[in-house]
Amino acid sequence: MQVCSNNQQMLDVVSTWKVQGKTIAFVPTMGGLHAGHLSLVHQAKANADKVVVSIFVNPTQFGKDEDFDNYPKTLEQDLTQLEACQVDAVFTPSKEQIYPNGFKSHLKAGSLSQGLCSKSRPGHFDGVVQVVHRLFEIITPDVAIFGQKDYQQLLVIRQMVEALSLPISILSGDIVREQSGLAMSTRNQYLSGDQKELALKLYQVLIQLQQEILKTQDLNVAIHNSKAILSQDFKIEYLSVLDANTLKSITDNTSKIAILCAVFLRSTRLIDNIIFKKG
Ligand code: PAF
Repeated sequence: MQVCSNNQQMLDVVSTWKVQGKTIAFVPTMGGLHAGHLSLVHQAKANADKVVVSIFVNPTQFGKDEDFDNYPKTLEQDLTQLEACQVDAVFTPSKEQIYPNGFKSHLKAGSLSQGLCSKSRPGHFDGVVQVVHRLFEIITPDVAIFGQKDYQQLLVIRQMVEALSLPISILSGDIVREQSGLAMSTRNQYLSGDQKELALKLYQVLIQLQQEILKTQDLNVAIHNSKAILSQDFKIEYLSVLDANTLKSITDNTSKIAILCAVFLRSTRLIDNIIFKKG
């Protein structure tokens, strides 16, 4: 496994593969790897000849009161896990490699970035599209894999790729859950044992809400009931039921429904979702 800490090394590796006619799948990460990331890596391996994983904690997607400084940094463990998965190359750039002399693109995330996470994290998706576009420029993958857990991010990236006509297929990786049902996340490291037990209630409430929607119970009543249960243990940022393609209200044309939520458990922000076919 090649570890490239600067752009030139990464460009050289990629251009050698391109000359050999190899296809490239890319998994962007911020490190703190867990089984959810590794499942994206396995998906990448199944979809191309070569796999690149990036590890870069991107400052431009964090708000000023967020956890950028404390974001888990576990590079050695991450590299060991990636080596075991037989990843071909890992890109570990510095901030200077990604934003030379502070230069960054002025890309703005499209309409799908509005609402939901943007309400409490203004500018977050602009930071995400800037870094992902920059990484795409360097790695020039054929395929890139993003986890469904960050569902709004997945749609924002798809929208960017489509708008800029980038020749990259964006694949979605299923949410990987702890046995308890808690969606795996690097930020779960912030939770104590007791908090982890409480956190699993989030997925249980989402499943219950899905069942109520499928039974065609009044949507507003169902959401209201779920919020009442959640608010016993969590501070709710949003719990929304939307068209999964447009992130707008459900209409007769809706084919897939998204239940999306963000909550705080003490100071830890958790997001989760369920995407399903309209009954
Ligand atoms: O989902 C993440 O870990 C990040 O938002 C990403 C896509 C690696 C961009 O920094």
